[in-house]
Amino acid sequence: MSDPPSMRIVVQRHGPYRAVGGIPLAVQTITPNARKESWEWVEGRSFPVGKEYLLCRCGQSQNKPFCDDSHLRVGFVGPETASRRPIERQSEHLDGPTHVLSDAENLCAFARFCDPEGKIWSLIERTDDPRVRALVVREAAHCPSGRLVLREKATGQTVEPTLPPSIGVVEDPTLGCSGPLWVRGGVRVESENGTPYELRNRLTLCRCGSSTNMPFCNGSHASVQFQDGLG
Ligand code: FES
Repeated sequence: MSDPPSMRIVVQRHGPYRAVGGIPLAVQTITPNARKESWEWVEGRSFPVGKEYLLCRCGQSQNKPFCDDSHLRVGFVGPETASRRPIERQSEHLDGPTHVLSDAENLCAFARFCDPEGKIWSLIERTDDPRVRALVVREAAHCPSGRLVLREKATGQTVEPTLPPSIGVVEDPTLGCSGPLWVRGGVRVESENGTPYELRNRLTLCRCGSSTNMPFCNGSHASVQFQDGLG
């Protein structure tokens, strides 16, 4: 077995996430355009972190985004229920003129960058128009969870944004709530038993305690109006 990577996140049984390797941690805010549609990610304050730190997964810490052992006080139960099938096989594939859009709906973090100008599922059918194509590339690239992945048909290459290995603490002021942990740049996530999840450039981990697709976010933070007090 190969050595674990220096940066990784390990899910603790009915407890927090253990971030290993000094992974940079900063607020990432979903910022709207004039029409109040999700449009930009804006980085906010960064948190001083050591080589290892614990991030709240139950949503109850009084010291968010860090764990303060509240999961013990509230008896948090957070079994990992997410599918282990390759994301490619969990996805629907929508064929457009220049790109194929892969959509793994169960990973949706409800960031809504896919909504502007008529939603990406309609726009994909018009990617022979350069303006629409640029919009589709932008919208897919802003999806934090990697629910939406584009492949360019001419090259067969997936179109991924360049993201530094880091964790974003997501804030969504338009909805008036806080969101998941945005794991960026190919940081490995491991199950409580050490089994790695599929390595991805972007994924989102639940930190509100309400997802039914643990450890991944499924957008439930919006319906429970999760608040971390940092936004
Ligand atoms: S943070 Fe999104 S479902 Fe928990």
